Amino acid sequence: MAIGSILSVRNLHRDFGGVQALKGVDLEVARGSITGLIGPNGSGKTTFFQVVSGMDRQATGEVIFDGAPILGLKPYEIYHRGLARTFQLSRVFPQLSVLENLIVAAHRKDRGARSRALELLARVRLEDYAEVLGSDLSYGQQKLVEFLRVLMSEPSMILLDEPAAGVNPTLRQTLWDMVRHLNGLGTTFVIIEHNMEVIADLCREVYVLSEGGIIARGDFAAVRSDERVLEAYFGRARQ
Ligand SMILES: Nc1ncnc2c1ncn2[C@@H]1O[C@H](COP(=O)(O)OP(=O)(O)OP(=O)(O)O)[C@@H](O)[C@H]1O
Ligand SMILES: [Mg+2]
Repeated sequence: MAIGSILSVRNLHRDFGGVQALKGVDLEVARGSITGLIGPNGSGKTTFFQVVSGMDRQATGEVIFDGAPILGLKPYEIYHRGLARTFQLSRVFPQLSVLENLIVAAHRKDRGARSRALELLARVRLEDYAEVLGSDLSYGQQKLVEFLRVLMSEPSMILLDEPAAGVNPTLRQTLWDMVRHLNGLGTTFVIIEHNMEVIADLCREVYVLSEGGIIARGDFAAVRSDERVLEAYFGRARQ
């Protein structure tokens, strides 16, 4: 494990029958960083999050989080160690109010959950929605509330899977501002995102997945001009 890494992944493999979704992925996430994970559709990004978060326990390899191996642990065990994630599709409870959605996401004995929830809602200017049902939120609001749910447990690291997809520009800006704010307070992020402007803007380091393998790693400027990356995205090397 490299010094300063909060997450260290070695030789991660995951097969679905004939499909090798992850073929020996190695990846390091520096503590306190925002790291980007990009790659074409079907390259294995979500599968990587599934495995690291414990939702998928069929992978082989090594995953070290905060100094301890976590591969094979159950999702709630990993979550309780401070590694949280959001989903590509929203998971807000439709029959609960926004405030209830947040409170149920807190650790069970957290007496400050209600005030923390209200504080988070105010920070993203959704304070007027506290009593609104999950089902009455717009898709973008649901995605933002899902993100706030993750924040209720004050994780040290958060995996974001396309958090801005389908979200309107105003809420999207709020979301990225919140990521920056939390990162300033020390939270580490790994972000899957197709918008390269966002990746360029937020991420110090970017990993590129293609067909289950890491084909490039570095700052965005280096990665965007890498021949293998151009080939993976456009099916050809640069002319
Ligand atoms: N549960 C599953 N069963 C079978 N195959 C799967 C399963 N989940 C993913 N795959 C396959 O694994 C590969 C990687 O999929 P994955 O969803 O991780 O890609 P992705 O990079 O997140 O794509 P996208 O950008 O479209 O979200 C694909 O070929 C996909 O069809
Ligand atoms: Mg995906």
